[in-house]
Amino acid sequence: MKDGYLMYGGDYNPEQWLSMPKALETDLARFEEAGINTVSLGIFAWAKLEPREGEFCFDWMENIINRLYERGISVILATPSGARPHWMADKYPEVLRVNEMRQKALFGARHNHCMTSPLYREKVGQINYLLAERFGNHPGVKMWHISNEYGGECHCELCQQAFREWLKKKYQTIDALNDAWCTAFWSHTYDDFEQVESPSPLGETSIMGLILDWHRFVSDQTIDFMEKEIDALRKAGAGQPVTANLMYHFGGIDYFRLAQKIDVASWDSYPTWHKKPEWETARDTAFWHDVIRSLKRKPFLMLESCPGATNWQGVSKLKKPGMVAAASLQSIAHGADGALYFQMRKSRGGEEKFHGAVIDHYDGNDTRTFRDVAETGEMLARLGEVSGTETCARAAVLYDWENRWALEGSKGPRNDGLYYEECVEKSYRALRRLGVNVDVIDQTFDLSDYRFVAAPMEYLFRPGFEKKVRDYVEKGGIFVMTYWSGVVDENDCCFLGGTPYGLMDVLGLRSEEIDALYDWEENTVCQTEEGLAGMKESYTCKYLCQLVKPDGAQTLMVYGKDFYAGLPALLKNDFGKGHAYYVCADMEQGFYDDLYRILAGEAGLRSPWPEEIPEGVELTVRSSREADYVFLQNFGRETVELKLPEGEVLMGSRDGRMEHLEAIVLKLERG
Ligand code: GLA
Ligand code: ZN
Repeated sequence: MKDGYLMYGGDYNPEQWLSMPKALETDLARFEEAGINTVSLGIFAWAKLEPREGEFCFDWMENIINRLYERGISVILATPSGARPHWMADKYPEVLRVNEMRQKALFGARHNHCMTSPLYREKVGQINYLLAERFGNHPGVKMWHISNEYGGECHCELCQQAFREWLKKKYQTIDALNDAWCTAFWSHTYDDFEQVESPSPLGETSIMGLILDWHRFVSDQTIDFMEKEIDALRKAGAGQPVTANLMYHFGGIDYFRLAQKIDVASWDSYPTWHKKPEWETARDTAFWHDVIRSLKRKPFLMLESCPGATNWQGVSKLKKPGMVAAASLQSIAHGADGALYFQMRKSRGGEEKFHGAVIDHYDGNDTRTFRDVAETGEMLARLGEVSGTETCARAAVLYDWENRWALEGSKGPRNDGLYYEECVEKSYRALRRLGVNVDVIDQTFDLSDYRFVAAPMEYLFRPGFEKKVRDYVEKGGIFVMTYWSGVVDENDCCFLGGTPYGLMDVLGLRSEEIDALYDWEENTVCQTEEGLAGMKESYTCKYLCQLVKPDGAQTLMVYGKDFYAGLPALLKNDFGKGHAYYVCADMEQGFYDDLYRILAGEAGLRSPWPEEIPEGVELTVRSSREADYVFLQNFGRETVELKLPEGEVLMGSRDGRMEHLEAIVLKLERG
């Protein structure tokens, strides 16, 4: 990164081809033809790196790294902990997971080791150390790929014991734990830490503090496992940056915490392109690009994506012409310094033999996918100068893992779906429609960098969050909070004395009740007599309608139906130098689009684009000290024509014309 080029390539598994050396020759030629400059190696190669316990065979790997290096191709070298050799599971069954039903797994699959097992930690530490010792100074090794898609949980006795230790450290005494978790409920009081068991359908699922702390423990234990992996590399003298490939929608690990321990955030992107209109899929994918970039607020990597069809989705659709390039470019537009694929060469057998790859079983370069990949390689090569440039956002939307866990575990008010992620995405989309960059942050972030902050469904407040919000608004921030916020503390215990906790004066209201709607029900939210210029007369809402009592806030819109017709549904409160808005119900997208257009004006958020952005067009900006790089991508089905400002056109047409999936990248020098 920052080498003046964008990384381009992907996961390469030559260990599957060692008995067919010709394949390597073909691959090297193809990589050159496709503009490949980076491959990830060794992700699932442990059985070839240590075929028998203590017998390490790294020569084949060295040969491949050398051959790649001679051709100018860098390596992201993996630690192989994502899948272990058979001998290890046979000899040391403690490496295998136990599920929540307390059943022990057999050998098989991957990503399924116990994160606590001292033996597994030792074996991983050893092989990582040896790999780093051998390759840590190789000029071709540019980065480390730590394991693969960490996730899942283990309920074995080792993990139970580690969980108890974790709890002891956190609470010191069992009384403190009982108090925090409110275990007097149903007589679930613990007498001793030894009685604590991880949540299970066979046992405890009704103490929410336990569920939340189990999530935290699993997340921490995984991060700790990862840190030990990284420590082993560092001890052996490897100084390259490390990354860990993350997954979208994945809830198991607090990615904001994990990101503190890696140098570069990265993720694996597999949208179901062509299932919905491309602009919708692009918008949803954009959200995850922005989540991953925001983890470190630095350039990230799209470490995996599919150059053709995947094979694991319900329907594995081919990518239509232009899609591969558009998907790769979208990651760059959102701040990635590289777009990579899974996988470079399609495996002959096993579960992924039909998963799209740069090089097909056929081997040739005259396939549609290969041509797409080569063209995308050319495109990225032309954009090398954007590598290392930053994404500057003045608007932020909160998306908090702990809050997500609490909402998922809690009972009520709508066990048929609270739609937290959707609620977050509505705020995100409304801001993106305006063409402004958006950070996605959690409650631990400093808010003072932003002019506009949306806090959708912040049900759980981490300690001190309310103070952060208060300061932010007081100093002039524009803040939006929605229904079902500030309800519980970090243990999912309800705040007493009125909610949203600690913010009733900031928001100028108190929430009283919340009505849950059946799937087929809806309500409306209408303008009051005063009205709010820029908003429509009415909007629909679904699922959740909160009833609040204003105390200083101005009512901007009211409910249209039901026994609460006429009660406030949108409120505004002036607090200090700022304004705080409260959205009482799960509103339709159009409501957020219109409201945020008004609030963006209030907050002085400006898109670099003076005109309305046509629907389906994505606009993002990356900046260096000297220039702004404006990315415009047409994910809509219709051709659009935009009036471009003066400036250098790095790609696309100067006349501003973009057909479906086409893009324009402009370089605007800073005045
Ligand atoms: C994940 C994994 C890869 C591969 C791909 C297939 O992202 O990390 O090893 O299995 O999925 O899409
Ligand atoms: Zn375990």
